[in-house]
Amino acid sequence: MRKNYETYSVFTPSQPAELTFVDREQVNKQLVDSIRTPGRQLVIFGFSGSGKTTLINNKLNQLYSEVIESQCTKGTTIDQLKLEAFDALDKYYISEVSNTNGSEISASLKSVYAEIRAASKVQKGEKYTRVVPLQLTDKRLAEFIGESNACWKIEDFHKVGKEHKQRLAQIMKVFMDTSQVYKTTKIIAIGAVGTGKEIVEYDNEMSERISEIFVPLMSPKELENIITKGEKLLNVHFPKYLKNKIIAYSNGLGAICHQLCLSMCTNNNIYETAESRHKFLETDLDLSIEDYLNQKYATLKSAYEKATKTSKKSKYGTKEILKAIIRLNKSEVSSEEILDELRNDIHDYPSNTLTTYLNHLTSIDREEVLRVNADSKEYFFSNPFQKAYMELKFSKEKQTKAVGSVQISANELFSLIAARQQFENDFDDSDEIFQHNYDLSDL
Ligand SMILES: Nc1ncnc2c1ncn2[C@@H]1O[C@H](COP(=O)(O)OP(=O)(O)OP(=O)(O)O)[C@@H](O)[C@H]1O
Ligand SMILES: [Mg+2]
Repeated sequence: MRKNYETYSVFTPSQPAELTFVDREQVNKQLVDSIRTPGRQLVIFGFSGSGKTTLINNKLNQLYSEVIESQCTKGTTIDQLKLEAFDALDKYYISEVSNTNGSEISASLKSVYAEIRAASKVQKGEKYTRVVPLQLTDKRLAEFIGESNACWKIEDFHKVGKEHKQRLAQIMKVFMDTSQVYKTTKIIAIGAVGTGKEIVEYDNEMSERISEIFVPLMSPKELENIITKGEKLLNVHFPKYLKNKIIAYSNGLGAICHQLCLSMCTNNNIYETAESRHKFLETDLDLSIEDYLNQKYATLKSAYEKATKTSKKSKYGTKEILKAIIRLNKSEVSSEEILDELRNDIHDYPSNTLTTYLNHLTSIDREEVLRVNADSKEYFFSNPFQKAYMELKFSKEKQTKAVGSVQISANELFSLIAARQQFENDFDDSDEIFQHNYDLSDL
């Protein structure tokens, strides 16, 4: 009999994938080798939504018995992280849960743990607060984690302040040294940024013992594998031409791929594995795109506003740059091409202003509407729907000559996207995907 799966656990736009997890060929070997090498610390980085958490969770699941998990937000300190990790060990040291290896934690370490635990609670007036007691040295923490056969995974480490990034490097050094006794003890720091050094600020002398692993956006093949896995689990069929369209709309982002597939299923009342094989039609994809736009409309709008906001002081804005990139009508463009295009309109556009604004547009402050390809140094829109939103907005502003106050609706956006029917069956021709149905020189 066919096994039954829930649609919401197969397609997971807002969660790390498990059932549809696809291995990331490009980084798999380096990642697995680094996890297996005693003492090696890991820094995992890549664009937001590229699949870092999914990848590391699945690999740690395969290779590690225990994981201590920490999550950072702006303002998180190393002391907070140390305390959190320390508390997460309670279950091995206090509650007598034996770790999955079945190995026992030494009695002497247990008593040290209990002492430190008591010392970490200090009374201030009526209340108790927590502090990192002197005894909870970096070395002690590494030993506690090592003794429980665990590693320490720290998510979103790019959000913490500079001094903490330097401190984590020192702690990593201690974890490296501790691995002589505890082979598994290890820190894995993850961040949604373009370089490893933006996550942990370590010295060159440590670089041999730290692996920086870049998780790229998902390739068309990997996205296709997500859909194919989902098809098998749910007994549904996405014809090849629909797969290609979903892949193109996803533009390397697994979340869009999962979201479109999920809505196609739920719109057809497929909430679990179908009894008889269900084949999707073009109209199903159209409907799911409409759903996506309705659901994300406010996000697209606010990202547009953040990306194009100008200060009164500056002579130029980011809008001209975005328009120029759209006019260039290519999947990726170099800064030289953008500058040439800009100077067709504004002859003296300064190249350093362009550099500054391109850096802004790829930053979180401007919602990362653009991304830069680390190899080719070329720029591209992170989300095709965001690009379509901008195109529509700019073209309406141009038509009505009313800048700023022009409103566009989710329906209009859908019409624009739906009008671009010319998806090629062969994905190699994906550059054709966002062919325009109006004259780009209008912008
Ligand atoms: N290898 C994979 N196989 C299947 N789906 C994946 C894979 N990687 C990522 N996804 C899907 O892509 C989306 C984003 O993945 P994930 O949350 O892991 O990215 P991230 O890089 O950790 O994002 P952020 O920077 O926002 O933390 C999720 O919907 C996830 O289910
Ligand atoms: Mg993540």
